[in-house]
Amino acid sequence: MSISTPLRKRTLLAAALLAASMILPGLAQAQTQAPIVIKFAHVVAEKTPKGQGALKFKELAEKKLPGKVQVQVFPSSQLFGDAKEMEALLLGDVQLIAPSLSKFDRYTKKIQIFDLPFLFDDIEAVDRFQDGPQGQALLKSMTNRGLLGLAYWHNGMKQLSTNKDKLTRPDDVKGLKFRIQASDVLEAQFKALGANPQKMAFAEVYQALQTGVVDGQENTWSNIYSQKFHEVQKTIAETNHGVIDYMVVTNSKWWDGLPADVKKGLTEAMAEATTYANKLADDINVEDRKKIADAGKAKIQKLSKEDVAAWRKAMEPVWKKFEGDIGRDLIDAAQKSNK
Ligand code: LMR
Repeated sequence: MSISTPLRKRTLLAAALLAASMILPGLAQAQTQAPIVIKFAHVVAEKTPKGQGALKFKELAEKKLPGKVQVQVFPSSQLFGDAKEMEALLLGDVQLIAPSLSKFDRYTKKIQIFDLPFLFDDIEAVDRFQDGPQGQALLKSMTNRGLLGLAYWHNGMKQLSTNKDKLTRPDDVKGLKFRIQASDVLEAQFKALGANPQKMAFAEVYQALQTGVVDGQENTWSNIYSQKFHEVQKTIAETNHGVIDYMVVTNSKWWDGLPADVKKGLTEAMAEATTYANKLADDINVEDRKKIADAGKAKIQKLSKEDVAAWRKAMEPVWKKFEGDIGRDLIDAAQKSNK
């Protein structure tokens, strides 16, 4: 016997309602509960200014947006090395990265300002420039390429190291091979010294130093210590000739698509994590310098005023070469940030 049409319709409707009542709450729940996963990848160790900043950001973001975001931090090039992280960000494989300011020159020539040798006297001057209108404008200078800067994070001033005993004057590095970050300014800097620069990912540096693929490198105390470069170098000259700082960047399309409350919470978390990491940076570098001295493996070479003047003079041609790309106005503003 066939079911009459109205009855059949009612039965079907009831079945549909029952099915919906079983599925829809689940869906609604999933929609309200599934957190937005934010992958934050970087190349340094956790016990560094950037490593600590990333962990602090995770803690604050998850506290401010409970159940709404989940931040996953991947240190030490676990997910991507520095050669791949920008592409990964643009492809949406990761949502936050914090490359050194030396690694952006494919996206904007202006950021090369941070690599000009002996431009900033110290990290406080770098901070003043970053905080000023020109520095803040640089955060937004790559949105046409899909990159949005959310903050600057400090590491510190760079020192020069080699596998040679003598490292006080520019002549001591003539003909030596140096690992550099992917930066045309840094390439020009080592060429001005008569040395041979090689662009290389951060994760490969220790082995390259150990096996003699390169003779030296330049980096902050915290990177030298946490990567154990001092164990495979003979001398570290305290040149303070440049800076390694970071821009925390996100994919601008992804960012624009975030719900307003999430964007607000993440912005606050980023501001607080920035204050935290930037306060810590100097202490970590001072501590790591001491640990390197105590380890007694590489000698720390202090430089006289005359020595420093000789390095400054040898690197001077770099300024002329990049002034056109960077812009005189930006260089003037950066110089004004020195006290
Ligand atoms: C380097 O490549 O030497 C640094 O930029 C690494 C880092 O992120 O501090």
